[in-house]
Amino acid sequence: MKLRYTPPLSPYRKFMLGFLFVFGMGILMFGVTHLYIQHSQTVQVHVEAKSEKVYPDLDISRINKKANHYTISINQPVVTDEAINQVIQEWIETKENNFLNQVDEIHETLVAQDDEHLYPHFSIRTQIKQLNEDLYSLELRSDQNFHQANTETDYLTLIIDLNTKEILSAADIFDLSADSKHLPAFYELVHESIQVNTPGHLFAMDTKLEEILTQPETWRLHTDLTQIYFYFAPDELDIDQAEPIKMAVDMADFIYYLNPVFAGKLGWEIPKKIVPLDPAGKYVALTFDDGPHESVTPRVLDILAQHDALATFYMLGSQVEHYPDLAKQVAEAGHELGDHTMQHKYLPKLSRDQIDAELQKSIDHIQQATGQLPQTMRPPYGAIDADVEAVVTVKDLPIVLWSVDSLDWKSRNVDAIHRMVMSTVHPGAIILLHDIHETTADALPYLLTSLEQAGYEMVTVSQLLELGEVEGIGPHRAIDY
Ligand code: NI
Repeated sequence: MKLRYTPPLSPYRKFMLGFLFVFGMGILMFGVTHLYIQHSQTVQVHVEAKSEKVYPDLDISRINKKANHYTISINQPVVTDEAINQVIQEWIETKENNFLNQVDEIHETLVAQDDEHLYPHFSIRTQIKQLNEDLYSLELRSDQNFHQANTETDYLTLIIDLNTKEILSAADIFDLSADSKHLPAFYELVHESIQVNTPGHLFAMDTKLEEILTQPETWRLHTDLTQIYFYFAPDELDIDQAEPIKMAVDMADFIYYLNPVFAGKLGWEIPKKIVPLDPAGKYVALTFDDGPHESVTPRVLDILAQHDALATFYMLGSQVEHYPDLAKQVAEAGHELGDHTMQHKYLPKLSRDQIDAELQKSIDHIQQATGQLPQTMRPPYGAIDADVEAVVTVKDLPIVLWSVDSLDWKSRNVDAIHRMVMSTVHPGAIILLHDIHETTADALPYLLTSLEQAGYEMVTVSQLLELGEVEGIGPHRAIDY
């Protein structure tokens, strides 16, 4: 549904009315015009206005006004919703009137100077980012420039949904629901971002920061999808400067905290938040080799999801080639992808070129199927020699082995798998399993329950390796160069 386009140029209309009034009364009032010199000078405004279609539901109206002693240029977005247009219009009018009042105050000085270069100038500039078919993010920046003094900048930001005809609030953009377990981390991130973006103001700001964090409904936000911009007036932060603070934060840092509805409108999936591990915590990394397998891998994914556990899958390129959708499901569930080569050959027997080809083919299949690159590699049979190390170094793929062997391929027995793991598990352990045996999937619920009862949290290999030199992690060879 499209609404009729109505140019909401009320300053323009006002001017036209004023113009008609002066023009119509001109002859009649000629004799007294000089009494209104000041008044008529503010009315003698040359106005140019044109409208430009920028998006199907959004025009930009460009208005330039040149008066005897000031100039104005306004780029005003006009959308297919009158209520939203009204908000924009009112803000612009307030800013423009404030400017005109200040011009009036110094009118005599301006007349005395009579220097075109010193004319006060007022401008509204608009940045628009279309986020999806109906969703736009707008930043309107007003500047009034009196050259030597009184330069003033302000922002109006609107993230609008022309489908629902809503102006989105911070709570529409971010998940601010009280039961969001990420809320403290989110506020911490906002807090840090403000501090990083306002160096030198840390001490003055602290109490103000707390206020801001408890009042997200006052936040002004704009986004180009790569970054999110936050805007604060200096007094909001208790900072002694004239300009508002516009700070840019990476969307990549904030994506975990988006309101799922908003993320859905963008067609985005919110990735699982990777919480930094506690060096004193009890973590293990479950690893599943040789898949993806048509029936076992989906079972493993289900069980891991039930236990809210993450794992790392060392996939064979040949299997990914057969089951790209399964590989994709693994990635989409938030698990980590590892490379286990194309055909599970014993690498030390191969030439460097052959090793390279074995790795590159599987990397390509994994990337094609999942859109992700493997984070680490595990050589078949754990077999490494200098050539293998040389090739993976070039590919920047850390080699990851294991410290707990379930021997699931050998026993094919639920109790034996459970016993092997639980008798040798330790914090930092990397546990070797295979998602190609039904018995491994059979053993998994029992195994996960026991690990949980023993206080372990299941994380990915990369998360575990980030703990660095904490004792007991690995084995792995994180290739540095
Ligand atoms: Ni293997």
